[in-house]
Amino acid sequence: MKAQENEDKNPLSSLEEWEDDVLKRYPEPGVPAKSKEEFRNYDSPEIDSVREFYRLNHKYQTYDNVLAKKENFLKFDKKEMPWWSAMEYLNQLVDDSDPDTSLDQLQHLLQTAEAIRADGHPDWFVLTGFIHDLGKVLCLFGEPQWNVVGDSFPVGCRFSENIVFSEFFADNPDSKDERFNTKYGVYTHQCGLENIHMSWGHDEYLYNITKNYLPEQALYMIRYHSFYSQHRERSYDHILNAHDQEMFKWVDKFNPYDLYSKSPKAPVVSELKPYYEDLIAKYLPATVSL
Ligand SMILES: [Fe+2]
Ligand SMILES: [Fe+2]
Repeated sequence: MKAQENEDKNPLSSLEEWEDDVLKRYPEPGVPAKSKEEFRNYDSPEIDSVREFYRLNHKYQTYDNVLAKKENFLKFDKKEMPWWSAMEYLNQLVDDSDPDTSLDQLQHLLQTAEAIRADGHPDWFVLTGFIHDLGKVLCLFGEPQWNVVGDSFPVGCRFSENIVFSEFFADNPDSKDERFNTKYGVYTHQCGLENIHMSWGHDEYLYNITKNYLPEQALYMIRYHSFYSQHRERSYDHILNAHDQEMFKWVDKFNPYDLYSKSPKAPVVSELKPYYEDLIAKYLPATVSL
């Protein structure tokens, strides 16, 4: 771990820098890709920081890292608070670097949820939109950005070349470990995602927080919403099973709301709060243990 001490563990100026990069990779279908000038009106130091972020993510997201993070965070012994307070707690992660929309976390979540609601989807789908990034509180517990955000992917088997900046996996010790560097690694043909460890981050964390309370479709959306190499390139069909493929239709349904609902018009939190408090009360316990 010595080398890590010399690295800036948080190269992104905010977590949104990763999401903005995802949006550039996967622009909204039918909408011409925004030019960089339109999207961000200053030149791009962010390209280097996104690159550095992925270098760290791909180097350190090992099978053992995932097991260690699960061991620590799935005890849920860090904090307990009402759900709405947790959403406000997440909002301490402010993004003061983003000239595009300058929306905070709560506003991104409300925009995602309101876009889902406007399309007439079931209320649990709206709630999923509202809470889907709550797992980013990991940052507030001192976790480095590479253990919180970034495209997620299975660990324990060969890393797909379709994962962004896949060349950086050369520095991941699992790439040289015979247990993990074959097509199937520790898994078997179409063994199903339920038997697979994903890289650690806000998706996996929130899935574990909500798994006893939300419909299975919602849990797939939460757990796999950053699994872009599967959404977009279907790179892991050999380990997904038929049920995963069925459920992934919901992940695909959710994804555009996450990526394409950003609008510069900030939702009025006080107007929306009663509706979301009711939704929380309908599906979730009074408090959340983080
Ligand atoms: Fe997310
Ligand atoms: Fe999101």
